[in-house]
Amino acid sequence: MIPLVDVKAQYAPFIPELQRRFAEVLESGRFIFGPEVEAFEREAAAYLGVPHAVGVANGTDALVLALEAMGVRRGDEVICPAFTFFATAEAIARVGATPVFADIDPVTLNLDPAAVAAAVTVRTRAIVPVHLFGRPAPLEALAALGLPLLEDAAQAFGAPGIATTGVCSTFSFFPTKNLFALGDGGLVACTDTGVADTVRQLRFHGSRDKRTFELVGTNSRLDAIQAAALRVFLPHLAGWNRARRDSAARYAELGLGEVVELPLDEPGHVYHMYVVRAPERERIAAALEDAGIASASYYVTPLHLQPALEHLGYPPGSLPETERAAAENLALPMWGGIGLAEQERVAAAVKSAVGVVV
Ligand SMILES: Cc1ncc(COP(=O)(O)O)c(C=O)c1O
Repeated sequence: MIPLVDVKAQYAPFIPELQRRFAEVLESGRFIFGPEVEAFEREAAAYLGVPHAVGVANGTDALVLALEAMGVRRGDEVICPAFTFFATAEAIARVGATPVFADIDPVTLNLDPAAVAAAVTVRTRAIVPVHLFGRPAPLEALAALGLPLLEDAAQAFGAPGIATTGVCSTFSFFPTKNLFALGDGGLVACTDTGVADTVRQLRFHGSRDKRTFELVGTNSRLDAIQAAALRVFLPHLAGWNRARRDSAARYAELGLGEVVELPLDEPGHVYHMYVVRAPERERIAAALEDAGIASASYYVTPLHLQPALEHLGYPPGSLPETERAAAENLALPMWGGIGLAEQERVAAAVKSAVGVVV
């Protein structure tokens, strides 16, 4: 079986180093916050080129805390895509604001700046672009609209040019992500010192000193064991992302573009997922399954059509490019280090599914 993502293949070579680092954490007796988490926060901030990074429990908390720290409140509108994981809009709703969905660009699958501009009202408080599947969203065009940006970078750690435009950028370290923990983890990167300070407070019950509680916050921590693992992996991320880009180029060389629409390559794309488009994607997915190859279609019911957000009143057909992408996308196996033999099998199976003799 070829999986969609082989997480173990990525961390297996590091097991001895992970064991050494975990032993050090055990010796230290410091499991919550402490020097390991602080060191990771410094290293992650340096990697991203931002002044502040705050570790939190997961990428969903990262979004909620960033929105709160940016001052998004009940009555505000926040523009985001509907072709993304539910957490993007969920976080907006969790702080009491209203998600306003803008359609996507059919080629990049990221927010279309013209659609965002058309969705701006006097209530718009922020824009949340998602760097979907590892491809940077058009930050310059979105920033030109003059509203604060919160970059949902859950799928894009290491993509060049991200995290320095938004007031905050949020990351998930779920084990399938480009930079991953061995469990849950998240990060808020901030370009604004005051906002970073508030995120720090909010993640610990709104307190700076554990005695005085200035805000009603929550408990959202990155723990030392996960930070230790992330510190082992971070120096290898650039290599993994290069390997993902090489593997994407190899899919193209193997002729996949003759039978399905390939993701447009751009230098900044770090291929968290390798997502092709094909109107006949169900047939291809079934053929891949028969050949022992995993594939997946993402956000098949986009967010504006999810039952939890029905009250927002978006009818089917209201975001045509989002709905078309939802109906046509198919993610093929991709991870940092997928082998040539595996990619050849995938390409052959996709071609034979659409009737090409291989
Ligand atoms: C775009 C996006 N935003 C937010 C999240 C939430 O991250 P987490 O699962 O760590 O809460 C994810 C991933 O799961 C995601 O893909």
